[in-house]
Amino acid sequence: MARHLITSAIPYINGIKHLGNLVGSQLPADLFARYQRARGHEVLFLCATDEHGTPAELAAAKAGKPVAEYCAEMHQVQARIAEGFRLSFDHFGRSSSPQNHRLTQHFAGVLADQGLIREVSETQMYSPTDGRFLPDRYIEGTCPNCGFDSARGDQCDNCTKQLDPVDLINPRSVISGATDLQMRETKHLYLRQSTMKDQLEQWIDTREGWPVLTTSIAKKWLNDGDGLQDRGITRDLDWGIPVKKGEEDWPGMEGKVFYVWFDAPIEYIACAQEWVDAGKGSDWERWWRTDRGAEDVTYTQFMGKDNVPFHTLSFPATILGSGEPWKLVDYIKSFNYLNYDGGQFSTSRGRGVFMDQALEILPPDYWRWWLLSHAPESSDSEFTWENFQTSVNKDLADVLGNFASRVTKFCRSKFGEVVPEGGSLGPREAQLIADLTTKIRDYEEHMSQAEVRKSASALRAAWVLGNEYLQEAAPWSTFKTDPEQAAAQIRLALNLIRLYAVISEPFIPDAAAALLDALAVTDRSWPADLDTALQILPAGHGFTVPEVTFRKITDEEREDWQARFAGNR
Ligand code: 2FM
Ligand code: ZN
Repeated sequence: MARHLITSAIPYINGIKHLGNLVGSQLPADLFARYQRARGHEVLFLCATDEHGTPAELAAAKAGKPVAEYCAEMHQVQARIAEGFRLSFDHFGRSSSPQNHRLTQHFAGVLADQGLIREVSETQMYSPTDGRFLPDRYIEGTCPNCGFDSARGDQCDNCTKQLDPVDLINPRSVISGATDLQMRETKHLYLRQSTMKDQLEQWIDTREGWPVLTTSIAKKWLNDGDGLQDRGITRDLDWGIPVKKGEEDWPGMEGKVFYVWFDAPIEYIACAQEWVDAGKGSDWERWWRTDRGAEDVTYTQFMGKDNVPFHTLSFPATILGSGEPWKLVDYIKSFNYLNYDGGQFSTSRGRGVFMDQALEILPPDYWRWWLLSHAPESSDSEFTWENFQTSVNKDLADVLGNFASRVTKFCRSKFGEVVPEGGSLGPREAQLIADLTTKIRDYEEHMSQAEVRKSASALRAAWVLGNEYLQEAAPWSTFKTDPEQAAAQIRLALNLIRLYAVISEPFIPDAAAALLDALAVTDRSWPADLDTALQILPAGHGFTVPEVTFRKITDEEREDWQARFAGNR
């Protein structure tokens, strides 16, 4: 039995995520976690909300709530939606937890002890009216490039030009509208990751079989013009983890907090502590400390491509720089983007399907199947309603659902709701078992490498084999001339439903559970030898016909949804 530590990039707290966010990290991470558990491995699967930074502050202000209260509420909202999608986290933590406060301050302290932190004086916009420094996103003004009057300090939303707050014409505070902004001197901590370039490069070069997407982004950041620069890890904000050196105050850093991207990945570790403190586990160190057993752990991270630099360089710089025996990631699985119906998902324009809306219109398995079978692995992919409808209606309803329903209903009408006895398997069945064995071994191979689309194809192919068999064996005809033979065919087919439920569970957990319930079977063991696995339901075993496993999406629904989610703002 192996041990798998699995983390998904932790979603920002502000707002509900769309399906593109879901398929870029949490969902494939869940697929992998479920698969490893199904194979009998020990899994610790962690995720959390990413609660610091200006977006959280701004969203709270917009909601008219104190930021701590806003975050607590949104954490609950995100946790409920995650459950709705059956994301099987062992713990869904919060980057604002006391555990993360302590650990982040600890890392800053040891990095300072290792000589990897330097203090830098810089100038930044200050608003006397608001009594605070203003981060780039708190400043608005007229875009020097296109004249748009609400350009943000970091970027113009109208012409997309990247900006510096000093470029803005007539800059003003987003908080108060104050225009008496001044440049003031402020001191910040920088992590000297430039000194670690060789060490990081060597580490990346020795990672075997990492996805090209992951290593190419990492290499680009290591070697491009502005390559691996030292990085500011503190901010002049109220909301965040106060800057401390371990448990001690840090002179000159009063009133400052750590930068959200410094503390967010540290939450992966703190989350394991939260898991223990919540009474769900007993030893987080054996997952995270290589001096406490974590050298046996395989650690896999899931994330969208925009997160790759932080996970291949910044976070490893924190870990390696600490000089302490923390577990480093073994495999980074990254994803491209999912687009929506000829464009991008857009929160501000209400364009695309967001996680809560998806669950309002269809159960989680429908989304899980489409999203995973179309995961943006080798390139960006696109959600279209036509494709969604086809995929659900064909793969789920016509192939898998129909198989389960035909077999159980036919059995009920001819033999009753028990696995029929008699007859024996012939060459056609032997061929089916051989073909299925090949497909399932392919599936296992792809799943173990987190090759999401290839896994979905192999699984679909295994479902198709069952349908083809049923079509050829035609037990409804056989029954007329040789009922014993038909009984053997149906016994095999009922066992195939159990097999499909077991192997499909990582993709469609609700349907799998419903099928196993209907078959009244508790044996969920992964099929090692197919001959044996297809005899688990013995003759005489009682079952019930399952409810419709998957229904079809009608053209009318498709058109309604397309219009509803097109975005109108
Ligand atoms: O891109 C995002 O949604 C970030 N909140 C991901 C952070 S992942 C990690 F560093 F914790
Ligand atoms: Zn502009």
